[in-house]
Amino acid sequence: MPPARSDASLADMTPETARAEHADLSSRIAEADRLYHQEDAPEITDAEYDALRRRLETIEGAFPDLAGTGAASASVGAKPSEKFAKVRHAVPMLSLGNAFADEEVADFVARVRRFLNRPESEPLAFTAEPKIDGLSLALRYEDGRLVTAATRGDGEVGEDVTVNARTVSDIPQVLAGTCWPAVCEVRGEVYLSHADFAAINARQEAAGKPVFANPRNAAAGSLRQLDPEITRSRPLKFFAYAWGEVVPALNGTQHGVLKRFAAWGLPVNDRTKLCADAEAMIAHYRSIEAERAELGYDIDGVVYKVDDLSLQRRLGFVSRSPRWALAHKFAAQKALTVVEGIEINVGRTGSLNPLARLRPVTVGGVVVSNATLHNEGYVQGVGGDGEPIRDGRDIRVGDTVVVQRAGDVIPKVMDVVLEKRPAEAEPYAFPDHCPACGSRALREINPRTGKPDAVRRCTGGLICPAQGVERLKHFVSRNGFDLEGFGQTYIEVLFEAGLVRQPADLFRLDFEPLKAAIVARREALSAERRADGAPAPKKAAKKKGDDEDKAIKNLLASVEDRRSLPLNRFLFALGIPDIGESTAKALAKRFSDMPALMDGVAAAGRAQAGPDWIAFSALPRIGPTTRDRLLEFGFPRDLAEADENEEGEAQPQGRVRLSAPQRASLLAHYGDADAIAAGIVRAAEERPGDAYRHFADDGEIGPVATDSLIAFFSEPHNHAAVRALLAEVGTEAMAAPATATAFAGKTIVFTGSLERMTRSEAKATAERLGAKVSGSVSAKTDLVVAGPGAGSKLKDAEKHGVEVVSEEAWLALVASA
Ligand code: IVH
Repeated sequence: MPPARSDASLADMTPETARAEHADLSSRIAEADRLYHQEDAPEITDAEYDALRRRLETIEGAFPDLAGTGAASASVGAKPSEKFAKVRHAVPMLSLGNAFADEEVADFVARVRRFLNRPESEPLAFTAEPKIDGLSLALRYEDGRLVTAATRGDGEVGEDVTVNARTVSDIPQVLAGTCWPAVCEVRGEVYLSHADFAAINARQEAAGKPVFANPRNAAAGSLRQLDPEITRSRPLKFFAYAWGEVVPALNGTQHGVLKRFAAWGLPVNDRTKLCADAEAMIAHYRSIEAERAELGYDIDGVVYKVDDLSLQRRLGFVSRSPRWALAHKFAAQKALTVVEGIEINVGRTGSLNPLARLRPVTVGGVVVSNATLHNEGYVQGVGGDGEPIRDGRDIRVGDTVVVQRAGDVIPKVMDVVLEKRPAEAEPYAFPDHCPACGSRALREINPRTGKPDAVRRCTGGLICPAQGVERLKHFVSRNGFDLEGFGQTYIEVLFEAGLVRQPADLFRLDFEPLKAAIVARREALSAERRADGAPAPKKAAKKKGDDEDKAIKNLLASVEDRRSLPLNRFLFALGIPDIGESTAKALAKRFSDMPALMDGVAAAGRAQAGPDWIAFSALPRIGPTTRDRLLEFGFPRDLAEADENEEGEAQPQGRVRLSAPQRASLLAHYGDADAIAAGIVRAAEERPGDAYRHFADDGEIGPVATDSLIAFFSEPHNHAAVRALLAEVGTEAMAAPATATAFAGKTIVFTGSLERMTRSEAKATAERLGAKVSGSVSAKTDLVVAGPGAGSKLKDAEKHGVEVVSEEAWLALVASA
């Protein structure tokens, strides 16, 4: 394999030449990976390999839309690289919720207090620590000795970088002292100081090698090396701030654990501070922000954590982040540049997504050449509710704009500098037809709000190639079927060749046609490149053909590997609007397989509610219990007094008591008492059947996802595509650790006032143990937890012979679960 072509200067690159070189580099890297891992027969040196990778990263830095594309994308970014052995994290490595504004910090503190039912009068301490901008690393110590070091990877499975981590002098091989737990997985951040980063880049430059875009990339590139000697030559540093599996468990406080870490010889950040309230947290944030430039290493914010570990445990997690922590990020970096064009990308659900092509500009150390414009209204300066955006300033080609980049997210166009608008700049005419298939593109009226959707969508459905390709890309993506060997480019090639039009086609591919399509594409590409004056490839045709055959066989083997998949991933891969990963998991908890789910959806469709019920059901502050009581007993006009009762609790038989906010919500929607009463009568007539409510009232699934599932499966072509796929692929029950507990699959109802925990906490605990929490008692209820003042639900429990326990007894059950 010839060495990397790193001669073309970035400044001379156009998006086209960048794309071509990126594709070329990608396939060389993919090939080198394959030779190294599958054949154990590398044909290039590690240094050459690193040069290829860095050139790829440099190009992706300058042309961010190329990132994640190409044959090598599977080993770039989050997915554990094939270069390293995989390590499954005993405790997943999660991410943090983000905040930018001070008010969000106050909200966070209030939320934590509410969840724990802790009044202002009782103290509640938080730590505030710098948020290090490096890459996270998990260090597992057994009997005080370092046994494994793993990167975060996708949070569940990371890369084994033990050999490399052993070369980092900040990381002890053996913990100091003797009082460490037998198993102790320390988590923290690997980073590079500004001085060391500059020295590494100077060395790279002197050796004619590409430089790293920022210290974080350099740290990641240095740790994720095939050759540990390269890691050793880079002065990586480490800060410990969290932990995974620890036996026996760590107790006490966050700041106490950090002190113990330090005593064991682990570096901890000395700017960690204990704070008594939001004010103190924000003050510390400000002081760290003021020091930021002098710290000597990159930080991108401050992390707040509830200090008391027993409270952390009670707070638990919501989806992928802890309820007990928050990342308060520093304001994003901004720059001025010119919009050179506006393009429309068609997403997998047919959304027309406008993208600004920008004159390349450096924002916080990264070259940005395009930025999202969100949707039509955003370009025009009009929000979904008709409110002006940017005081109504629209965005035009030729405009000078403020671009903002925060962390890893796609850059945004924040504002327009009207004084610099060229006289000839015309308002952007947003297309009303799909640029990919020519079908009409509409902004549909949302039945829940009665307003047009913010997003304009192509109506082409199956005939729209852009939607088809995007859906297939989603299907093969990491969290779907994880067939990333197909990369994003192969999918396009196979779609164009007519070989893969729907997911099932991937499982019916044969060697010869697949090869023909790939060869045709390669030849077309190299003809294009020769026309641009690039030299012909030097590799012997025979050798290339052999390599290609092996690559195609690998592709087909990867497909065979996916003939069976957990139900949640199967569902997520289908790319049904509003069915994200957590909803897919919730569905997989409820249904054993796809046929059962499809039957459930069909039944829900037959039992669907009418628009008046849907609107009523979506009213803020009116939860399912109050809603159903209002539909049953009507609007309580006579009750002028408002009280703060908890929803559905201790309601007198035959009438509903509403809190002031609930009344306000009804009034805001309907106008006056007569209209409320009439609206409730109409809604009651359109009540959905049980089969629908079974879905829609499930707190994790909800009506939006339910309606989306009904709409998806009521399209015969979607039904057919899923059936065709099921003929090729089997589903497995989701691997859910919680099913091991005695509460798995049980339905629990909480009633009366709880004294030791809030409702949300009780619900979260039950769900963590695999139980489902319901608002009403029926024969299907397994357990009722009743506090003082429990009323009708207690009677219902007696009627159905359901076991009733006190809050104390429940806590004892939880402790032993
Ligand atoms: S605590 C459950 N503390 O930020 C998550 N994370 O955006 C525990 N990070 O993945 C993480 N400094 O890589 C924590 N002082 C700090 C941190 C920190 C940097 C990183 C970490 C994490 C990411 C989340």
